[in-house]
Amino acid sequence: MNASNPWQPGGPVPRAGALEIAPYVPGQSRAPHGGPVIKLSSNESAIGPSPAAVAAYRQAAESLHRYPDAASAALRSALAEMHGIDAGGIVCGDGSDELLHLLALGYAGPGDEVLYSQYGFVVYPMAALSVGATPRAVPERNYTVDVGAMAAAVTDETRIVFIANPNSTGTCLAAAEIERLHAALPARVLLVLDAAYAEFVTDDAYEPGIAMVRDHANVVMTRTFSKAYGLAGLRLGWCFAPPAVADVLNRLRGPFNVTAPAQAAGVAALADIAFLDTVRAHNSEWRSWLAAELKGLGLAVLPSSANFVMTRFAAGAVQAAAALAHLAGDGILVRGMGPYGLHDCLRITVGDERSMRALVKSLGEFLEAAE
Ligand SMILES: Cc1ncc(COP(=O)(O)O)c(C=O)c1O
Repeated sequence: MNASNPWQPGGPVPRAGALEIAPYVPGQSRAPHGGPVIKLSSNESAIGPSPAAVAAYRQAAESLHRYPDAASAALRSALAEMHGIDAGGIVCGDGSDELLHLLALGYAGPGDEVLYSQYGFVVYPMAALSVGATPRAVPERNYTVDVGAMAAAVTDETRIVFIANPNSTGTCLAAAEIERLHAALPARVLLVLDAAYAEFVTDDAYEPGIAMVRDHANVVMTRTFSKAYGLAGLRLGWCFAPPAVADVLNRLRGPFNVTAPAQAAGVAALADIAFLDTVRAHNSEWRSWLAAELKGLGLAVLPSSANFVMTRFAAGAVQAAAALAHLAGDGILVRGMGPYGLHDCLRITVGDERSMRALVKSLGEFLEAAE
């Protein structure tokens, strides 16, 4: 327990863990010199939202004096139909971030351990600390979740295992590997499969977690509308959970945690299947293009199943930071991976054609000048 609050001696004392949380650092959104930017730092959609979703959002503005549907019923029913799952197991949230926090709140507390894979997502340790639990990072192998290491890290205190699949590095585990991990976990441990980038995966061996949730009482899958659906600004996520877990989340969440415009836009976005197909096709094409161009520049590129590509600078952290600054100077914002401890890496969102060509040109100029 905190004996005192260092910020305000003698004042209210925050709960254990609160002051240990390193505030989230979002991807850069401004260039040093101001002016227009090409933002490739937050894995937002290259194409933006479906026009149908935007129209539904505008339409919902007519009824802003009304509270939203507390059950997000229409949205859950649309999700259930699309994925062939039971709407009773779906809980919607204010982004999937909220659901990750609610899962920590529901299943961990002081004295408990929350395991997460080293490069999973910086929100996992934040969620653990916010409920007074102890986060423990489990080392990855080749920037990929190490199933054996994760299984070996489980102790009597472990309550939750968070896995991002695809990972924040872009790598992905096949369904069989997730099954193997689950088989190694005691039944009391909740396995959270964060499938924020599921829509971008093209590998047939992948399964986002739907089958796992159906088959097991201790698995939850989280999803988001922030990436492939291009609705990051709206804050809309959902999870599919066993009934008992969904029940806990529904008790803990705020009654009106998803706004009416978000629910309406979500329903419309799901109905626009052709748009999602276009988004996926664009991503596959330009992800391959970007990876090939980066390799052509002599950079190491990690295979990606998501809407971004991570690249590593052989000359290390100093060169990665210099490249980040050079790109920002050209108004091109990408993600430095320092918060993940990957100081020699940059992560680049797959953007539209103009952004991709501008990025490769700027990076090429940087590397040429460095020679
Ligand atoms: C792996 C992962 N999970 C979850 C999220 C959060 O998504 P949301 O916008 O739904 O809160 C992100 C966002 O970048 C992410 O990368």
